[in-house]
Amino acid sequence: MKKAYRASLLRFDASGRALFDKDGLLVVAPDAQGRQRVLDAGNHAVVAPRHPEAPVTHWPGRLLAPGFLDMHVHFPQTDILGAPSEGLLPWLENYTFPAESRFGDPAHAAEVAEVFFDELLRNGVTTALTFATSHPASVQAFFEAAQRRSLRMISGKVLQDRHSPDGVRDQTEQSLIDTESLIRRWHNVERLGYAITPRFAPTSTDAQLRGAGELAARYPDTWIHSHVAENRDEVKWARELFPQARSYLDVYRGFGLMRERAVYAHCIHFDDDDRRLMRETGAATAASPTSNLFLGSGFFDFEGADRIGYHYGLASDVGAGTSFSPFRTMLAAYCVGREGQTKPGISIPPSRLWWDHTGGAARALGLEGVVGNLQPGCEADFVVLNPAATPLLARKTALAETLEELLFALIVLGDDRLVERTVISQAL
Ligand code: GUN
Ligand code: ZN
Repeated sequence: MKKAYRASLLRFDASGRALFDKDGLLVVAPDAQGRQRVLDAGNHAVVAPRHPEAPVTHWPGRLLAPGFLDMHVHFPQTDILGAPSEGLLPWLENYTFPAESRFGDPAHAAEVAEVFFDELLRNGVTTALTFATSHPASVQAFFEAAQRRSLRMISGKVLQDRHSPDGVRDQTEQSLIDTESLIRRWHNVERLGYAITPRFAPTSTDAQLRGAGELAARYPDTWIHSHVAENRDEVKWARELFPQARSYLDVYRGFGLMRERAVYAHCIHFDDDDRRLMRETGAATAASPTSNLFLGSGFFDFEGADRIGYHYGLASDVGAGTSFSPFRTMLAAYCVGREGQTKPGISIPPSRLWWDHTGGAARALGLEGVVGNLQPGCEADFVVLNPAATPLLARKTALAETLEELLFALIVLGDDRLVERTVISQAL
């Protein structure tokens, strides 16, 4: 049956422009499958008379906004968040691979998956494109936990059949067999989706990348999820391993791994031909600014991406990223824009940062109109924010005279304390 929530309300129009109702009403109702979807949304005085029978939950002083999407995160790296290192490759060797080698144990994978989902939800993240590990048990644990919580989540078994230590290295043929059976088991089951996940080109043989590309063609609505052009040493290594490719990104094109729903984390060390390849194939970047700052990888070129016009959205990249909080990520993205790859830097408007972590990220993932917004038809995953969660937030948000000022105060001062509750569209 219909339900209504009254509070301030943030949504986006089709061009990504923020829509704000100080006194808003969000009306939700179950669809034919019993899943809660937005039925109506807007100004309370306009929307309420259309639904006189809907019981109203009133949250005075609160702000309802779409649940955030994290476009790239590693659930098995939850426990290595904050591991210092001299850059990406030593970080992988010293912290990441040892931590991930434990995820063949289903009990460990299940325990960490619960911690991971608790953290996402405490921080207002309702959908995440997530690396598991090379062990099928890690994917199984992830999807079972996500299904129990009715979440819209995407994950996949990591493919890495070379240049990887014992404990995480997989076998070419078996890795592709496992991937296909996990696709058949989990893809499009309720709100779950499968991502074909080569770790990055240097840790896969040609045969594994070719097999991944064949699966991506056979299952065209699955996602593809990998890393590219994050770190200068990594780029140099990839160029040595694949001398026939025009660029590191072009390696993936050559194996059929660039298409819509292909998501590449980082994309820092790109030229304009790489950016055009992203645009022409419909692939998307998961920009991961806290990770890039932490590992000293470089700065994603937001201006370059907009100039060429390809899809991107924001991501935490935990455990190289330093926070699950979308507010920390949006602030870091703002700072990276100021620093810029080319001078002078840009000043990304706060409503744009917010869109890049909600509706824009959903569009980049091929989930526009499904999640990331609170327009009619969207699944009702949303956050209830308390703009007075801390004394300074209360003071700054009360002083805000425009929507941009309000959103900027939330981005600069916000963290998990801002997220009073996260509401998930439950199947009845
Ligand atoms: N490149 C290959 N694997 C990884 C990883 O786990 N994290 C990051 N940030 N980059 C990678
Ligand atoms: Zn990553």
